[in-house]
Amino acid sequence: MMVPFDIIVAVDTQKGIGRTGNLPWHIVGDLKHFKQVTTRTQSADAVNMVVMGRKTWDSLPEKFKPLPGRINCVISRNPGLVLPETVLKAAGLDEALLLAGQPTGKKIERVFVMGGAQIYQIALRHPLCRKIYWTQIHHDFGCDTFIDVNFAGFDKIAESPLQHEEGIHFAFIEYQSLPCNNS
Ligand SMILES: NC(=O)c1ccc[n+]([C@@H]2O[C@H](COP(=O)([O-])OP(=O)(O)OC[C@H]3O[C@@H](n4cnc5c(N)ncnc54)[C@H](OP(=O)(O)O)[C@@H]3O)[C@@H](O)[C@H]2O)c1
Repeated sequence: MMVPFDIIVAVDTQKGIGRTGNLPWHIVGDLKHFKQVTTRTQSADAVNMVVMGRKTWDSLPEKFKPLPGRINCVISRNPGLVLPETVLKAAGLDEALLLAGQPTGKKIERVFVMGGAQIYQIALRHPLCRKIYWTQIHHDFGCDTFIDVNFAGFDKIAESPLQHEEGIHFAFIEYQSLPCNNS
């Protein structure tokens, strides 16, 4: 059975998320937030899954591949894609959500879709999308990759006070999918 999932993304003032295949910013506070949100579980016996497109996988620094303390799942159309043994491969988001629902060694508590633009595009329109963890960065980084989001199907449910780091201001926002957001 496919399981529900949340999205996590950091976005600049132009809805930019990436530039030349990478993150155009290095915001330690946001990296910590990402790690905390995607890693923490209520049950000590459980683990979370992070789902990403192949290009986002390629963009991760070698020392963080796979992202520790989480089951990593990479979406690719390439059946020959070679990944480390512990990393799951899925031919699409639905397959990743099915894998997350299958009993494995450890129970998967939550699933986070962590990009990039192609995978967000599918995830934002998916009926099993529950929540968006959105870091709003108040700066234009001249991105070449953007998130295409329409908040009509979502309610803002939380917003942190403005954070700042080396002159960059940002805030952590949470949106919840409205019950009818299944078109
Ligand atoms: N700001 C943020 O929070 C954030 C988060 C993540 C990533 N990013 C940035 O986003 C950029 C990468 O995004 P992107 O859109 O170029 O790439 P992406 O979504 O990470 O990956 C695209 C790849 O995913 C696979 N794919 C896409 N749709 C598929 C489908 N329907 N079925 C099966 N496989 C599918 C394909 O892999 P194959 O080519 O192998 O078939 C495709 O080339 C980078 O700049 C990265 O740094 C930003």
